[in-house]
Amino acid sequence: MTQNREAWGSRFGFILAAAGSAVGLGNIWKFPYIAGENGGAAFIFIYLICIAIIGFPVLIGEILIGRTTQKNPVGAFAALTHSKLWISIGFLGVIAGFMILSFYSVIGGWTIGYVVETLRGSLSHFHNPEEAGELFDALSGSAVWTLGYHTLFFALVMGIVIRGVQGGIERSSKIMMPVLVSILVILMIRGVTLDGASEGLAFLWVPDWSKINAQAVLIALGHAFFTLSLGMGAMLTYGSYMSKRDNVVTSAAQIVFLDTLIAIMAGVAIFTAVFASGLDPAAGPGLIFQTLPAVFSNMPGGVYFSLLFFLLLAIAALTSAISLLEVVVAYFVDEQGWTRKGAVLIFGGSIFLLGIPSALSFNIMADVTLFDKTFFDIVDFTASNILLPFGGLMIAIFVGWIWSRTAVMTAVKEGAETLFETYPWFEGIWFLFLKFIAPVLITLVLLNSLGII
Ligand code: PFF
Repeated sequence: MTQNREAWGSRFGFILAAAGSAVGLGNIWKFPYIAGENGGAAFIFIYLICIAIIGFPVLIGEILIGRTTQKNPVGAFAALTHSKLWISIGFLGVIAGFMILSFYSVIGGWTIGYVVETLRGSLSHFHNPEEAGELFDALSGSAVWTLGYHTLFFALVMGIVIRGVQGGIERSSKIMMPVLVSILVILMIRGVTLDGASEGLAFLWVPDWSKINAQAVLIALGHAFFTLSLGMGAMLTYGSYMSKRDNVVTSAAQIVFLDTLIAIMAGVAIFTAVFASGLDPAAGPGLIFQTLPAVFSNMPGGVYFSLLFFLLLAIAALTSAISLLEVVVAYFVDEQGWTRKGAVLIFGGSIFLLGIPSALSFNIMADVTLFDKTFFDIVDFTASNILLPFGGLMIAIFVGWIWSRTAVMTAVKEGAETLFETYPWFEGIWFLFLKFIAPVLITLVLLNSLGII
């Protein structure tokens, strides 16, 4: 089996696919609005620290587990430990993939829907965000609209993953990622050349420390996991197709760099435009679907920018969604002997079905709630706020404490000998973060998510 296992065509292909997984709705939809709600620059500063001291060390560990075992999350833990406990941690990752993809596809569908609405001209005559909000409520309030685009988005995801690691995921990432970066550069240039853009830049760069409290730190840390696709085996699975000749540490650094750069670029593009229009930067989740359409309506050539922006979001969502489906498919192919095609159709199809109540949570099922949360909110909350931090915690503990240090160092040095010779202190720092700092901080995030602190 192992000899026939698929692999990336090149290290560059791996970096683009992994950066594609990391760069998603989290960077372009979520990051700007949580930064906006939590005070801008000061929040971004805390977020960068979380990425550096937790995200980066855990990402190296997660890719390394995959690269060493050349397996999916369940098979990987089984190969390294034979322990039922750790195998079930791998299994939780597959379940998290199932859950996240089911609701991610609903929002991914909206982004395609907004590309189409822009083309139809329905987004170009708003005077204020309230008017744009009315259209948003009408669209997301329509079961046909949400379900239709959920289906379309899902068909695209399955169409890519069914073509395999090299022919589907790598090939599409090599096209989509450069397009994504080019669009973002255009939107950023447009943003910073608007009158009044400097206020948006000041919001992003001049910290207001009074806005930072324990809650903001926990949000920043939780987001660090989501944005780097950590804690559920997506990076582990992508790492499992990586060659042992390649350097895991520099690859992880490049993925973190691209993900962070793109989140900041999206912040610049969005906040310069929002401030130049005199609108509210702390508009919450509606920032993208309500505030921005109002901004574009009042901008010369706004239709083109609107088109580019929602295309950017759709591409970002697609390259992340394929990594979510790949975790589930890899498990069934490696462990249960399914063919790729069968696994994509059957399990992709099941995830699609699980997404239906999430799509309906904005319309006919809006009143079906548990603890005041809709189906969509429950799946999102459980996966993003509990399963991902928990998975991240377990990966840090596993690499820091369970896997023997000699074995970890032998594995990580493959392809990275010079790095560890040139920077001998790196090993100590990496282990310090994995063994102590990450577990303590992630436990705090988890306790906070569960309402205990
Ligand atoms: N990193 C993606 C984003 O920022 O939107 C979300 C994500 C993708 C999370 C894949 C987890 C994952 F496995």
